[in-house]
Amino acid sequence: MDIKVTRVAKTGTRPKDADLGFGTAFTDHMFVMDYSVDKGWHDPRIEPYADFSMSPAAMVLHYGQAIFEGLKAYKTPDNKIQLFRARDNFARMNRSAKGLCIPELDIDLVMGALKQLVKLEENWIPETLGTSLYIRPTIIATDPFLGVRSSFTFKFYIILCSVGAYYAEGFNPVKIWVAKDHVRAVRRGVGEFKTAANYAASLSAGEHAKKEGYAQVLWLDALEMKYIEEVGAMNIFFIIKGELVTPNLSGSILPGITRYSVIDLAKKWGMTVSERKISIDEIFTASEDGSLTEVFGSGTAAVISPVGEIRYGDRVINIGDGMPGKTSMKFYDALTGIQYGKEQDTENWIEVVE
Ligand code: PLP
Ligand code: COI
Repeated sequence: MDIKVTRVAKTGTRPKDADLGFGTAFTDHMFVMDYSVDKGWHDPRIEPYADFSMSPAAMVLHYGQAIFEGLKAYKTPDNKIQLFRARDNFARMNRSAKGLCIPELDIDLVMGALKQLVKLEENWIPETLGTSLYIRPTIIATDPFLGVRSSFTFKFYIILCSVGAYYAEGFNPVKIWVAKDHVRAVRRGVGEFKTAANYAASLSAGEHAKKEGYAQVLWLDALEMKYIEEVGAMNIFFIIKGELVTPNLSGSILPGITRYSVIDLAKKWGMTVSERKISIDEIFTASEDGSLTEVFGSGTAAVISPVGEIRYGDRVINIGDGMPGKTSMKFYDALTGIQYGKEQDTENWIEVVE
């Protein structure tokens, strides 16, 4: 399929790297493609970034039939553009699509479209360590219809955004708050899909955490409210007695691509990795007996984010000395080394955009 390209009359200006936060500095163009039952995915195009026009009855606005992805492009010291595990993101998007009754994408087609879009927006890729071009592929249901069913028409689009750190804390340890009165997702629901509903379900607890001075919520399992699942925008890892421990993919956790990467690196380095159920009580006990040495989150936006404090009701634990832990640093350095092209891509995670 040929991609029709319509360019902006005048390009915008990327903010200075030091001024970049997360999620506001959108680039000049976006990729868009439509779906209908008779034509399938059709009319792929790159056009100026602009508002969409759609019916107020569009099904996505009422019933949340929407999925998205998050990945990044990086600039290397020799000025190459690198995508990190982009095909894995589109494969996950297709799994989310199946879960939400959305037609799947042709991964080769969307990879080609993404590379063309990123190349066109090359000037929006910042260069400093910790900055990158965030990529947000999205699919929304567009039928103007108020009955509850799956839509017959959809829109797929990719928008791009120059970003810095996701958390105001940067790479300094963040504080997280364990939700006791809210759940994010339940097994056999949509928790393992990257769909809007999971984030809508997280907002109330998120606002509560923020009011209490915490960066994000740490979710427990919805049935027993006992086992740790993940954080609002990242998966979670603990180092207990030198072992790397993370919750197993229970069906209600997002299977993070950074999570898989951390596990792969850890195994390669000879660390013992355990994907299993971890109760919140185990974490408090391990903190009390000194066997819990580090906690960190992993995610595309969050990269590797050390966790310095966990609050669970009236109980609070502090991890480390207020500085990122040694192993968290090692994961951060190894991952960003590969992403920014400073280290060899021994795992075959990189696709260069030419
Ligand atoms: N969990 C949630 C709820 C997320 O939103 C994210 C971010 O995408 C992650 C985990 C981490 O996933 P990934 O490493 O694929 O970015
Ligand atoms: C990501 O890390 O890509 C995310 O999607 C997290 C968040 C911004 C929703």
